[in-house]
Amino acid sequence: MTAAATTVLVLNGPNLGRLGSREPDVYGSQDLAALTTLLGDAAPEGFRIDVRQTDDEGELIGWLHEAVDARTPVILNPAAFTHYSYGLRDAAAMVTKAGLPLIEVHISNPHARETFRHNSVISGIATGVIAGLGFDSYRLALDYIVHTVA
Ligand code: DQA
Repeated sequence: MTAAATTVLVLNGPNLGRLGSREPDVYGSQDLAALTTLLGDAAPEGFRIDVRQTDDEGELIGWLHEAVDARTPVILNPAAFTHYSYGLRDAAAMVTKAGLPLIEVHISNPHARETFRHNSVISGIATGVIAGLGFDSYRLALDYIVHTVA
C-alpha cells in the first residue's frame, strides 16, 4: 500500500486571480493556471499541490483554519492583506504555532516598491519569507517544505 500524499496548500490573496493581465511589468505575464502547472510539475512524488485564490479575507482565514485542522503545510501569498490584516496574521500564527511550516511569498519585492508595502504584518509569525523572485518564490518555498516535512 502506498502512503497518502502530503498536501501543500498554496493560498493566494486578493487580485492574484488577475495574474497575467494585472500589472505584467510587476507580476509577469503568466496566470494562476500557469503557477498551478509549475508547482504541480515541481512537486515530487508523495506531494499534492492545492492552489487556491480568493479576494475574500474571511475565506482566506477559513483556509488557514483548515490547514491547522488537517495539519497541512502552507505557502501563503497574502497579497495586499500582507500589509494590514491582523485577522490574517492571527490565523497564520495558528498554523506556525501548531508546528506547521507557513512560508510567506511575494512575486514582486515589496521592499523595492511603495512605502506602504514595506511592512508585513505576516512576516513576524511566518516560518520564512521569500520575495521578489517571480513564481520562483513559490517554487523555492515548495522546495523548503518538501525537504523539511518529508
Ligand atoms: C504581492 C505584493 C503585495 O504588495 C501586493 O499587494 C500584491 C502582490 C506580490 O506577490 O508581490 O497583491 O503580494
